[in-house]
Amino acid sequence: MKPDSTPQGVVAGSIPLFAGHPSSDLLPVEALQRVIGAAWQGRGVARFLNYGDEQGNPQLIEFLVERLNRRENLGIRRENLMIIGGSTGGVGMITQHLTAPGDAILVDAPSYRDALHIFRDHGLEICAAPIDDDGIIVAELERNLRELKASGKTPRFYYVVPSFQNPSGIIMAVERRREVIKLSREYRFAIVEDDVYSDLRFEGALPPSFYALADGENVLRLGTFSKTLAPGLRIGWLIASAERIAGFVESGLLRMGGGANPFSAAVVADYCRSGAWEAHIQWLRGQYRRRRDIALAALDSCMPKDVEWTRPTGGYFIWLRLPPSVRVDALDARAKEQGVYFASGKGFFVNPEDGAHHLRLSFSFLPVAELQAGIEILGDLIARMIA
Ligand SMILES: Cc1ncc(COP(=O)(O)O)c(C=O)c1O
Repeated sequence: MKPDSTPQGVVAGSIPLFAGHPSSDLLPVEALQRVIGAAWQGRGVARFLNYGDEQGNPQLIEFLVERLNRRENLGIRRENLMIIGGSTGGVGMITQHLTAPGDAILVDAPSYRDALHIFRDHGLEICAAPIDDDGIIVAELERNLRELKASGKTPRFYYVVPSFQNPSGIIMAVERRREVIKLSREYRFAIVEDDVYSDLRFEGALPPSFYALADGENVLRLGTFSKTLAPGLRIGWLIASAERIAGFVESGLLRMGGGANPFSAAVVADYCRSGAWEAHIQWLRGQYRRRRDIALAALDSCMPKDVEWTRPTGGYFIWLRLPPSVRVDALDARAKEQGVYFASGKGFFVNPEDGAHHLRLSFSFLPVAELQAGIEILGDLIARMIA
């Protein structure tokens, strides 16, 4: 691997199976160069180098509203959508607005590690319920809700990655989504739907989003250009009720914020409106599907039989369960000695010990030869640790 594409904190030449980045060769560098060049020479460039609208670039908002309505029949208006600095910026903004330290929120176990970091930063009580292959186990979620109620607490929101979840790669089934919406109405919590992977579907169909199933009621849905265009642009979007969007746009945080990354947003708007994004997504699906197939084939041929893993139909990740005799910390230490880095399961749980026999592999970043080599090394190490 080229040193310039080695993720932070990893020795050059090693195999970073943890990296949830798009591979450098999947970034549309030349197409973006052309759009940036044209924007730079255009008469309007000074406009994009200045502060922008608080709600975000109007052309990009219009494009996204039209796309979402056309594809999902959501019936949203421009008042329902704002541009944000990536989905992460949206999670931070929502958490800042909807919670105070000590408030409770609900998450899956496991859940997206970097969202857990944000919730911890805000001093929240994070209540996790386990998932199975169809998403959150609703009876466990309900148990948490009853316990919170008994202690006089109403959770502020349920944070969920509903499709191709990070870290497990699973899709939450439509019945589960419906049951969660029912509970959200009964117990009065919002749903924060971090929908960053749904465009990267390799086969099969996806259930409607929480936002669609709930007719937008009390759902805040995040999207991003990080997984299907380029994360360095730092552009995403949030859809929610017009009142909520207005609340964010008029908040102190944004009032003199100049909108999310106006120059990047202008570039993304031009790129999308040329039709290039749709074609790029189609191409990416094939590229990632191939990597997923190669990773699964390598797992099938190299892993001892006591190891289990998910078989995602989209997204970036595969989630492994190690046998009880193999702790992820021990495997991590040995893998690093051989230059292989993966994401330990521990970071994805509120109680790290719950992830002591899990790990996440990403197939999005590495060239296929390294993906295969990394999985072979892990298979070999695990086999020796079991023996
Ligand atoms: C579930 C989830 N949300 C958000 C992000 C980050 O998105 P962004 O780059 O838009 O902040 C990721 C990236 O790994 C993710 O997996």
